[in-house]
Amino acid sequence: MKRSFFTGLICSLIVFCVSAQERSVPTYLDDSKPLEQRVEDALSRMTLEEKVAMVHAQSKFSSAGCSRLGIPEIWMSDGPNGIRPELMWDSFKAVGWTNDSCTAFPALTCLAATFDPQLAMEYGIAIGAEARYRKKDILLGPGVNIYRTPLNGRNFEYMGEDPYLASQMVVPYIQGVQQNGVAACLKHFALNNQERWRHNINVEVSDRALYEIYLPAFKAGVQEGDVWAVMGAYNLFRGQHCCHHDLLLNQILRNEWGFEGVVVSDWGGVYDTDESARNGLDIEMGTWSDGLSYGRAFAYDDYFLARPFLKKIESGELPLQLLDDKVRRVLRLVFRTNMDRNRPWGSFATEAHADISRRIAEQGIVLLKNETPLFPVPVGKYNRILVVGENATKSLTVGGGSSELKVKKEVSPLEGLIDKYGEETIYYTSGYTSEPQKYNADSLMQEALNLAKSADVVIYIGGLNKNPFQDSEAHDRKAFDLPYGQNDLIESLLGVNKNTGVVIISGNGIAMPWIDQVPAIIQSWYLGSQAGNALANVISGEVNPSGKLPFSIPKKLNDNGANSFGPSVYPGDSINVYYKEDILVGYRWFDTKKIEPQFPFGFGLSYTTFNYGKLITENKEYSKSDVIRLSCSISNNGQNDGAETLQIYSSQQHPSLPRPLKELKAFQKVFLKVGETKTVSFSIPVEDLAFFDDEKHEWVVEPDRFTLSVATSSADIRSSVRIKVIE
Ligand code: GLC
Repeated sequence: MKRSFFTGLICSLIVFCVSAQERSVPTYLDDSKPLEQRVEDALSRMTLEEKVAMVHAQSKFSSAGCSRLGIPEIWMSDGPNGIRPELMWDSFKAVGWTNDSCTAFPALTCLAATFDPQLAMEYGIAIGAEARYRKKDILLGPGVNIYRTPLNGRNFEYMGEDPYLASQMVVPYIQGVQQNGVAACLKHFALNNQERWRHNINVEVSDRALYEIYLPAFKAGVQEGDVWAVMGAYNLFRGQHCCHHDLLLNQILRNEWGFEGVVVSDWGGVYDTDESARNGLDIEMGTWSDGLSYGRAFAYDDYFLARPFLKKIESGELPLQLLDDKVRRVLRLVFRTNMDRNRPWGSFATEAHADISRRIAEQGIVLLKNETPLFPVPVGKYNRILVVGENATKSLTVGGGSSELKVKKEVSPLEGLIDKYGEETIYYTSGYTSEPQKYNADSLMQEALNLAKSADVVIYIGGLNKNPFQDSEAHDRKAFDLPYGQNDLIESLLGVNKNTGVVIISGNGIAMPWIDQVPAIIQSWYLGSQAGNALANVISGEVNPSGKLPFSIPKKLNDNGANSFGPSVYPGDSINVYYKEDILVGYRWFDTKKIEPQFPFGFGLSYTTFNYGKLITENKEYSKSDVIRLSCSISNNGQNDGAETLQIYSSQQHPSLPRPLKELKAFQKVFLKVGETKTVSFSIPVEDLAFFDDEKHEWVVEPDRFTLSVATSSADIRSSVRIKVIE
C-alpha cells in the first residue's frame, strides 16, 4: 500500500513538472506554434535597444540577434553562383580558412541559357546546401537585373534580356535554395542595369517599361518563388535611393505584390534615417562602404538605422510601429532559417555538386555556328589539336567582384581537353595576354601562328574575363570589342589554318568582325568548377550542345537599343540615365526596328537537326479567363540525340498602345533520340497576353487578334496560329 502510494505520488509529481515545463516553453521557442504567433511573442519580449540592434549590420556580413532571448544573429554570404570564402568581421578581406573552398556553379547567364527550370531547381538546392553547410542564413543571390546593354559589367550574374525567361528560371532557383532553410535574396531591386556610377546614377524609365521589362522577374520571385529576402539596389529611381524607396518597396513590393519578407540594403546603399525608417528597409548593411573593398571601420552603431534611429524613436519623431514592423519581418526570416530546428544540415563541395555544376554548364553552352562541321572534334580523329587563348587556362572563378569564389576545384578548359584527348594530342599556347606588362603580345601571337600552321585543328578559347572593365562588378566595359588584340589574333590564325573553331567565354555579347571567316563558334560562359570537363564534353561530341542565347548579340554596339540614342540613354551623364528605348529591350528592339542582330535571343544550334510540325491551338477563340492550349510536334531528323527548346512568342494585331512585335510567353526544352518525335504541349493563360497600361495602372488584355508562334529562336519562327481574344 505504502509503496504504491509513493510511486503514485512520484509519478504525479513528474507529470506535473513535465506539463509545467511544457507550459513554461515561451511561444516564440515553441515550433509547434504558428509562425506569426512566435513572431509576436518574441517581439513582445524585446527591448527597444534589442529591436534596433536587429535592423542594421553588426559586422560586414551579419546582423544582430537577441542573445538574451536565445535568438541567433543572421549571417549572410555572396553570391549567386557559389558561397564566398569567410570574410573578416569588419573587412571584405578573406580570413584564410582552410575549409571554405566551395563548388563554383556556372554564372547565371549560363543557367538562363539552359532554358531548363528543372536545372534551376537543382542549382538552387545545391547552392543552398552549400550556404547552409557554411552556416549562412541569407544567400545574397540570385540577381535578375535585365540585360539592357552588353556593356554592363555584371550581366554575367544575371539571367538575360527577357523578363519571362528570367521569371521562369529564378522561381525554381529560389525554391531550391530555401528548401535548405536558407533565405534567397533577390537582387538588385531595381533597375541596376549598369555599373557605371552605380552608387549614384538616377534611372528615369516609364511605368510601362518598369512593369513589363524590369519588374517581372522580381514579382515572380516574390509571388511564385516566395522569396524570403530582397536586396535594394544602389542606384536611384525617379530621384530616390532604391534601398529606401517608397514606390518600389512600400507601394509595389509590399502593397501590390504582398511581400512579407526582409528587405536588405546593398552594401553602402543607405543614406538617410527617415527614408530608411519609412520606406521599407529592414536591415541596413555595409554603410559607408563601396560594397567591395573598403568601408568606415566599426561604424555599426552610427548606421542610419542604429543610434540615429533609436534617438528618433525615443524622441517620438518616428513611431515605434515602423521599428516593430521591421523586426517582425526579421524575426520571420529567423524562424524560417536559423531557428528552424528541422532544417537540413547542408553539404559542401561534394562530388554531387560538382556533377550538377557540370551538367548545368553542359546544358548552357551555345553552339552559334558550325560549318564543315568543325565541331564536334571526335577523340582520336586528329593527332595535333592546338589550343590557343588565355581563357583556356585563366581562372575565371576569381575576380568579377562580390561573386568571386575560392573553389575546391576548377577544371580549366585546357585541363579538360587534355583529359579528354590526351597529352600527346593537345598543344597549347596563350596567343594573347591580359597582362601586357608581363608578356610580349607580338611574340605570343607569333608563337600561336607558327604552331597553328602544323595543327590539324585549332581550338581558340578567348573572350572576356573577370578583370575590371571586363565582366566585373563596379565597372562597365569600355568597348563592345574583344580586348587584348584578340580580333587580330583570330583573323591571323584563320589566315594560317582555316580549321579553327572559336570558343568565346563571357557573360556579355561581343563584336565578331571575323564572323564570316570563322567556320565554327561556341558561346561559352563562366562555367565554374567543372568548366573544362563541360567544354571538353561538348567539343568532343560526348554532349550535344543545347543552350540558347539568353540575350541578343548585335552586329555593332549602336544596333543595341540602349546604345543607339547617345550618352544620356547609356551610361547617362553621371547624374541621370534615361531608358529611352523603353519597352523595346533586346529582341523587342531588333524586331520592331527591323535590325538584324548577329545572333538573336533564343538562338542555339545542335549537332543534330530538328523538324517542327504545325503549331496547333485547341480553340480559335478565347475569353480573358481562359488558358490557351497549344501543341506542336518536334522530330529529331539528324544523326545525334539532342535537346531543343521550343519557344512560343505572341504578337497582338491592333494594340491600343505600342507593343513589341512579339514577346516570349512560353518555352519547353525536350530531349529527342535520333528519329524520335514528340508532341509538346503549352498552356498560356490569356492574361499573360496583357500589356501594362500605365494610364490605368493595370495589366490589360484587349479583345483582339493575336498571332502565336512556335520558334527555334526569336528570329526563326517555324509555325504560327491566329487566335482571337473575345470579351
Ligand atoms: C556588393 C554587391 C551585392 C553584394 C553585396 C555584398 O556591392 O552589389 O550584389 O551582394 O555588395 O557583397
